[in-house]
This record gives sequence, structure tokens and C-alpha cells, in this order.
Amino acid sequence: MNFWEWYDCNLSAAQQENVQIFELDWLILRLTSLDKLDLRLRSPDIAQKITPEILTKLDQLWQKRLSDRVPLQYLVGSVTWRDLDLKVSPDVLIPRPETELIIDIVAENCQDSMYENGVWVDLGTGSGAIAIALAQKFSQAEIHAVDYSQAALEIAKTNSNRNHQQVQFHHGSWFEPLANHNLENKLAGIVSNPPYIPSIEVVNLQPEVTNHEPHLALDGGDDGLDAIRELINNAPQYLISGGFWIVELMAGQAEVVRSLLQINGRYTNIQIHQDYAAIKRFVSANKK
Ligand SMILES: C[S@@+](CC[C@H](N)C(=O)[O-])C[C@H]1O[C@@H](n2cnc3c(N)ncnc32)[C@H](O)[C@@H]1O
Repeated sequence: MNFWEWYDCNLSAAQQENVQIFELDWLILRLTSLDKLDLRLRSPDIAQKITPEILTKLDQLWQKRLSDRVPLQYLVGSVTWRDLDLKVSPDVLIPRPETELIIDIVAENCQDSMYENGVWVDLGTGSGAIAIALAQKFSQAEIHAVDYSQAALEIAKTNSNRNHQQVQFHHGSWFEPLANHNLENKLAGIVSNPPYIPSIEVVNLQPEVTNHEPHLALDGGDDGLDAIRELINNAPQYLISGGFWIVELMAGQAEVVRSLLQINGRYTNIQIHQDYAAIKRFVSANKK
């Protein structure tokens, strides 16, 4: 079978299996020297660029994608997020495009030197995406990152080295490692994309997520807000006055989180921010 026969046959297979057909192009572009134009124009010299070995490799990965519903990013072992090249494995959540916005919101709301030169923490760092992007944005700041998963932290460390950014990684639950490092009343900002999916929904997500992504990264307890309550209740002890607090949420949680912040009484300037799909995806606030 030549490359184009294989390509057409697997485009049809993708449609039958309800897998997005652009993913096949994504895999080919990631693993070969072809570019989008080669695929679009069905360039005739493609046969020379795709050796039988590469075609076999493509086929093995694509069949795994179709039959086991493994996300392509895990099959390839990396993802581009903002301008970062990040290693990913089933030990970490695949960083999502909408999460990229958290960095832009921070940059927009934290232009003072107290933030740019301050101490920041990313709670639940996973692949390290947010912490590494923060380190890149605030090159004079001190960036810490925490995760409960030791395996995730190993990947995050690889990613900070790969992207030449300095981040201090800590193993433990939420604020616990920060207390051990005397960071009370020291933080200019706390950023988090915590697990926020209600437990009952975690088992009913698309198979790529439920069967392959770590449930520790997804499961937010009965109403999805366990971690967020922890972050609301404990952050004021660690933030400086005026310190910035932001979390990512799922659709439908923003108003509840706004109320929890108001009831807490130690926050001001509470704001809801939308993502690219106009979903109320983030809530930010400042410590009074
Ligand atoms: C939704 S993922 C976010 C990963 C990454 N920050 C991102 O945006 O792609 C949530 C992360 O929180 C971590 N986590 C879960 N429970 C935790 C806890 N008690 N303390 C610290 N981290 C925790 C998970 O291991 C996971 O890496």
C-alpha cells in the first residue's frame, strides 16, 4: 500500500470511529518531514519522503488511536502549548488550549513590579505548563510549582529544563509544601488549574479522557469544587496584600466560586473571565 492509499483508507476509518480527521494530518505532520501543503496538494514526491519504516510507525500509532482511543499527544509523547514544547505521558493531564489564556489574564492584571519580581506558585502543576509559561513571562520572578503526583513532577522538571526556565518543584498536597518553605505572606500570585470535574462525571467523559488521563488531575469531589474550596480558604494566608489569585473552572462553576470568594471576605476585585468559546472559565481575585 502506498502512502496515499494508506491515508485515504485511514481517513475513512477515522470517520467510522468518530475520530476527528484532522488528527491524522496532525500525526503525519508531527512524525514526518511533510508540511500542510504536501498534504493539501497531494504532492507527488511524497512517496520519497515517507519510507516504509515511517509508514509502519504511523500505522501502528494510528491504529492505537482508533482502537484504544489513546490521545495522540500521549502516543507522540509531546504537545505544543503556547510556544512551549512539553513532554506528556499518561502521568500528566494534556495541557488544554483554553488553559493558555490563564497566562494572558495574569499578564494583563499583574503589570506592577510587585508581581513581575514577586514569588508565584502554580498549584497542581501537572506537566508544568503554567509554571513554565509564568517563568517565561516574569523572568525576574521566583516561581514555585506543587503537585501531589511524584510522576507528574518528574515530567514537569524535564519540561522546565527542555524550555530553559527556572521553576522550584515541590511534592505534596496544595499548600502543605509551601508551609514547609516558609512562604506564608510571601506570594505575589497563586495560579491553579485544579481538578474540578464532579466525581460522578469523571467516568462518563470521552474515552480519551476517562480511560487515559490521570483521575487525580480530573476528579474534584462530589460537586467538583473540593480543590477550589481548599484554594479559596488557604490562599490568603500565603498571599501578600494585593496578591493575585486565579483558578480555572468548568462551565457552570464561575458564579458559585464568585460567591465562595465573597463569603470568604478576604478577597476583593473578583472577576470572571471567559475562554475562546465564551465559557466562564476562570475566576480571579486579589487578596484585600
Ligand atoms: C487539571 S490538572 C492541571 C495540570 C496542569 N496545571 C495543566 O493545567 O495542564 C490538576 C493537577 O492537580 C494535581 N493535584 C491533584 N490533587 C492534588 C493535591 N492534593 N495537591 C497538589 N496537586 C494535586 C494533579 O496531579 C494534576 O496534575
